[in-house]
Amino acid sequence: MRDTRLAAERAGVLDDEAARRSIDRSDMAGAIEGLPGQLRLAADRSGDLPVPDRAVDVREVIVLGMGGSAIGADLVAGAFADRLRVGLTVRRDPMLPAHVGRNTLVIASSFSGQTEETLTATQAALERGAPVVAITTGGRLADLSRERGFPLISFEASGQPRAAIGHGAGLVLGLLGRAGLLAEVEVAEELRLAAAAVDRGLSAWGPTVASAQNGVKGLAQLLHDRLAVVVANDHLAPVARRWKTQFNENAKVWAAWDELPEAAHNTVMGFGSPFWTGERVFVVALAGDGEPGRTVQRREAVLELLDSERTPFEVITLAAGSRLAQAFAGVVLGDLLSLYLALLRRVDPTPVDAIARLKARLS
Ligand code: PA5
Repeated sequence: MRDTRLAAERAGVLDDEAARRSIDRSDMAGAIEGLPGQLRLAADRSGDLPVPDRAVDVREVIVLGMGGSAIGADLVAGAFADRLRVGLTVRRDPMLPAHVGRNTLVIASSFSGQTEETLTATQAALERGAPVVAITTGGRLADLSRERGFPLISFEASGQPRAAIGHGAGLVLGLLGRAGLLAEVEVAEELRLAAAAVDRGLSAWGPTVASAQNGVKGLAQLLHDRLAVVVANDHLAPVARRWKTQFNENAKVWAAWDELPEAAHNTVMGFGSPFWTGERVFVVALAGDGEPGRTVQRREAVLELLDSERTPFEVITLAAGSRLAQAFAGVVLGDLLSLYLALLRRVDPTPVDAIARLKARLS
């Protein structure tokens, strides 16, 4: 009875537009709704993105970026792992690995163009003679591209880096296509299919869909006041990582992510301990439509173990066609979920004061 009343009270803040707007003061809901437009814009631009002249005989690609400016490349690396002609690594560190050199295409990705780690690694890549291209809205990275004469792919966006994931992923994918590094991929079509998957997600789970019909608002109620652990495999593993970071930044809560099948080789040993995890942890497993049977069996076996330790979980199947479309269906679901968690916690999803303070302190 008490639980039902609490759930109804909480649904109020999720379903009442005025209440939502009084918490979501900088309109993160609107920013999430902008995602399909970003993907379509990247599709339109994909045919004429600049590629560095020296990007011949490319043997590997490294994307330099942090946080919201790195995750888009992770999604691309995951979705196209079966069609990329060379390895793609996303590097979140100022130190550049020794193997980066003239045959490495280096993509420096920074929303602000001011991120220290990305700028330091970009300088090192230039010193090694690697072909470099920048993706940014401006800042020091754009200045550096003008000073050192490497191509700049700029985009316009206000708001938060994490809300520009459609630009981040779409422009990296377009660049890989232009550099001839993707086998049999229609880049613009892939991006439009991903945009359509996001549109469907917004129609099914968006802020104006009432709790009674909205499974994502229901999931937010289950996750409220629990530690969320998101688990996924293959091309959906970066989506699990995105969920974790969106829970951190939008809802301002701890969260964790893990990857299958690796989790079957270690994480399972921790199930059930400490003793309070059954009450306080909630696991969400992301599944792709049409997965190989062995993948499904493996996940089910792991979830059975979790169940035997009385830790609650839910499996979410992302049915959206292509690998990239599935990944973006997962991204929009997680973005909305993190927004609803923020509303339930009554915190404004947009500001990330601690990150800004850390950057200021280290600058
Ligand atoms: O979401 C955020 O605000 C951060 O994760 C940033 O993306 C990160 O700090 C890097 O900044 P930028 O994206 O401007 O390079």
